[in-house]
Amino acid sequence: MSSSLHCIDCAQQYPIQRVLYACENCGGLLDVRHDFDAARASITRSVFDGRLGALAFPYNSGVWRFKELIYPGIEDSSIVSRMEGNTNLYELPPVATFAGVDRLLLKHEGENPTGSFKDRGMTTGVTQARILGMGRVACASTGNTSASMASYAAHANMQGIIFLQNQQIALGKLAQGIAFGATCLQINADFDRNMELVRQVSEKLGIYLLNSINPFRLEGQKSIMFEALQQLRWQTPDWIVVPGGNLGNSSAFGKGLLEMLEVGLIDRLPRLAIIQAEGANPLYRHFSGGFRHFEPVKADTIATAIKIGNPVNLQKAIRALEWTNGIVEEVSDQQIMDAKAVIDGAGVGCEPASACSVAGTKKLVERGIIKRGDTVLGILTGHLLKDPEATINYHAGHLADLNPQYANQMLQAEDSFDDIVRILGGAQT
Ligand code: F0G
Repeated sequence: MSSSLHCIDCAQQYPIQRVLYACENCGGLLDVRHDFDAARASITRSVFDGRLGALAFPYNSGVWRFKELIYPGIEDSSIVSRMEGNTNLYELPPVATFAGVDRLLLKHEGENPTGSFKDRGMTTGVTQARILGMGRVACASTGNTSASMASYAAHANMQGIIFLQNQQIALGKLAQGIAFGATCLQINADFDRNMELVRQVSEKLGIYLLNSINPFRLEGQKSIMFEALQQLRWQTPDWIVVPGGNLGNSSAFGKGLLEMLEVGLIDRLPRLAIIQAEGANPLYRHFSGGFRHFEPVKADTIATAIKIGNPVNLQKAIRALEWTNGIVEEVSDQQIMDAKAVIDGAGVGCEPASACSVAGTKKLVERGIIKRGDTVLGILTGHLLKDPEATINYHAGHLADLNPQYANQMLQAEDSFDDIVRILGGAQT
């Protein structure tokens, strides 16, 4: 079974054991490519369906259930897993009504062990770090990558090192990095600058880099598509809608979908819609300008997870858009927080960035691009509890320039039976 690294621009190949994040020839991004032919007999719907509900490692993981498509031939003893994946698909009628479609399925990646989709990429990334014998791993992060890396590094007895901006990290994410014992560096720089710094420092000190520029991360994140399509009985939805920040997920989705088509697990590709925040919209601008000239932006949005102005996976995301006849949309912080309040109010909830999937669907329906009758699969990328401050401030009306349309305001009562009965409007039957 052979796997190798391939440059997406000049097709240069490298052995899988090389510690490389860009092509030495042309600087292009690298793909991990597997030879699926040797495992063809195992790459079938019935084999993957037969592993559903497995109790034993590694098939009890929603990533490693698809091992032949993720990292064929790997020894099970090398795998660092927290039984990630196996996340639910929700059909929430109030959210579908809000978005304006008849059938909206939301795959909740916030149900992963550390509360975001990053765990799917971290199981493969830290596994590769273990195979390579790495003792230290690092990432720059808006919070979720670092929380996940810190957890998986602890499991693998590695030192996790995280580069965080010193402002606007959601509290839940910061708490996880610290609690899981990572070395946490708060740096007076935004995510994009931290990304440059972590690349330079990792190279200098021989630390393994676990941002999504590392192609092994994306191999795990492909499984979001594998698992969602399996949950849909291998029937392709019309649209996949996903938030876009560093564009790792969008890139992984494109690769995973194409591979599923190639090995015959699905018979057509869905269209990919990547949704960015208006204040962090470099891909949207690039897409709208016909991909002629790329300009990074200085990012600012309440959805701090995607406060990214210079995404490292840009070229892979463009490729995914080409493969899937995809589209890019932008949404305002107001639209993000209102959509989040609707998702939260349906009893499921998510963090702000995740709500781009629903806010973006609504906008694309209003623009006539997504049709009411289309089946839409939206990805909720992170858990509600990641960013409690944003949630509470929205409902309390404390967010500057935002008018909370779906606020659930706290009521204040005296320590008084009469007062509470008055507030609740008398006895209800
Ligand atoms: N949603 C959430 C909750 C995220 O944490 C991220 C990225 C995204 C969406 C965007 O995904 O980068 O693959 O386009 N968070 C990274 C981090 C950047 O550091 O945790 P992407």
